Amino acid sequence: MPHNLLKNKKGIIFGALDNKSIAWKVAETVKEEGGDVILTNAPVAIRMGDIDKLGKQLDSPVIAADATSILELENLIQTALEHFKGKFDFVLHSIGMSLNVRKKRDYTNQNHEWTKKGWDISALSFHKLLQVLYTKDALNKWGSIVALTYIAAQRTFPNYNDMADNKAYLESIARSFGYFFGKNKKVRVNTVSQSPTRTTAGQGVEGLENFLNFSEKTSPLGNATASECAHYVVSLFSDFTRKVTMQNLFHDGGFSTTGVSQEIIEDF
Ligand code: NAI
Repeated sequence: MPHNLLKNKKGIIFGALDNKSIAWKVAETVKEEGGDVILTNAPVAIRMGDIDKLGKQLDSPVIAADATSILELENLIQTALEHFKGKFDFVLHSIGMSLNVRKKRDYTNQNHEWTKKGWDISALSFHKLLQVLYTKDALNKWGSIVALTYIAAQRTFPNYNDMADNKAYLESIARSFGYFFGKNKKVRVNTVSQSPTRTTAGQGVEGLENFLNFSEKTSPLGNATASECAHYVVSLFSDFTRKVTMQNLFHDGGFSTTGVSQEIIEDF
């Protein structure tokens, strides 16, 4: 049931590939809550994925931008400022990719060129995006920026491979840049650490199905779905969370603070 939480708010959503993407659900929920969005993804993802369909559904422009390219990010933010006729209120970074994961290279035997590429896409792109937003002074006072992350940044999950390191870097950027955005722009920057979710990126991780079951049985509230994540992200875009910044916020049904559940013990 919509609450008009984002009435008169507008922003940019990165990373909607298909209807399983977390970003796809966020874009739909933003619209339901009265907000307006521009959708963006890498050019190849726009050609291969379904984002144009979502653009039509939400009556939102789709603008191509490779998030590793400062030039393309500058073009995107400039176009958004023109489209919205001024500054906007929120941005979602929902981007991740590891070539080592994709090509099944173990953490102990990485191709470091692939590691650099994955780091650039999954982690450094967040700094590039924040820097362009900051330099162009693109966000309204009390705006909100969110990036999605995973608990492998804090604890070891062997199959998550180099994405664990990328997520640790991403979370650190949210704190470091969050200071300057808070101090000088009154804009908040947070990461949301989401439960494992069945999406294209999620399915790249080996053994995802078993892991989803383990996580479901460990979390007292069960795994959080992509739609539930969208609701949480919308609350972070809303005016009800104005003083929350530089945080890594777990949205995981209690997984992160559960040692072991009775169900897992009984499985042995
Ligand atoms: P997804 O595969 O639907 O989304 C990943 C997106 O990254 C795609 O839309 C892809 O086109 C985009 N992308 C890749 N390279 C790009 C580039 N150079 N420039 C711009 N965009 C690029 O998968 P999902 O799961 O929705 O992923 C979204 C975010 O959520 C990622 O940061 C992921 O690590 C994070 N996450 C996912 C979890 C899961 O289990 N699925 C759990 C916790 C966090």
